[in-house]
Amino acid sequence: NWTMATFRDMAIERIREQVGDSRVICGLSGGVDSSVAAVLIHEAIGDQLTCIFVDHGLLRLGEAEQVVSMFREKYNIPLVHVDAENTFVAALEGESDPEIKRKTIGRLFIETFEAEAGKIGGADFLAQGTLYPDVIESVSFTGGPSVTIKSHHNVGGLPERMNMKLVEPLRELFKDEVRALGHELGLPEHFVGRHPFPGPGLAIRCPGGVSREKLDILRQADAIYLDEIRKAGLYDEIWQAFAVLLPVQTVGVMGDGRTYEFVCALRAVTSVDGMTADFYHYDMSFLGKTATRIINEVRGINRVVYDVTSKPPGTIEWE
Ligand code: XMP
Repeated sequence: NWTMATFRDMAIERIREQVGDSRVICGLSGGVDSSVAAVLIHEAIGDQLTCIFVDHGLLRLGEAEQVVSMFREKYNIPLVHVDAENTFVAALEGESDPEIKRKTIGRLFIETFEAEAGKIGGADFLAQGTLYPDVIESVSFTGGPSVTIKSHHNVGGLPERMNMKLVEPLRELFKDEVRALGHELGLPEHFVGRHPFPGPGLAIRCPGGVSREKLDILRQADAIYLDEIRKAGLYDEIWQAFAVLLPVQTVGVMGDGRTYEFVCALRAVTSVDGMTADFYHYDMSFLGKTATRIINEVRGINRVVYDVTSKPPGTIEWE
């Protein structure tokens, strides 16, 4: 009888066998996969594990703080929190090509991680939250397009470069199994059940150049949107929902004044695996209520639109 408790115990045994009494460094992104991997490895080898959280400043509202407090206070896992927001935002300002944005973020992530890992020193193993679909995708893409649609953000190549061995305890799992394992390890439901979130974060939800101001506006709109979705009880029906801040300003009227502010697009899709997706069919009243809240509460947005594109031909993210 296969249960997650059994998997957990076996995985812990395997990790202990693999690493012995060596030191392990784990890169945290703030997401579910790397967090579950880290907590599992910590159960196996305790403080032989050090986590490095490269905070690129592109996470959603409150997420970075949540990860830091969860690791330090709830689990007591040694964590280096690298606040690299300035570096990332400076590199992205004025860059509007989506592929260059993705590659810049990937490169900075690796450089930042490498520099911190170097400071720790003496670790033979690098831990990653690689899932089974990531393994398949990097090996072959049978029947898929022969062109790169989007460069995915991952740390491929990093272990060889750093001369480290890999620990990947989630390699055989699918997303729903990682969630079940997260539950088994006591991670909070609102964390484990979160919608997928792309490595390059909010930068790819700000088409065009990214700035700290735009990221702040986007974070606020996104938080209101997700709050409304949770209040309406729709969160678990939706594969992914998020706000996008368009690099377009439009004219509006507020009180007896003219406004000239950004447009916010709302996206929500249903999907099984992210490879294909349908746009989510909201009630118009839900969209109207959410739009009103965003425009009233977020300075910098005066118009909200809803994306009714499915995948294909659209992708889920806008960049
Ligand atoms: P698209 O936009 O290609 O996205 O339809 C499919 C799924 O992949 C997520 N996504 C990423 N995930 N790193 C990730 O870990 C990335 O660079 C990345 N880009 C897109 C996207 O959010 C959706 O779930």
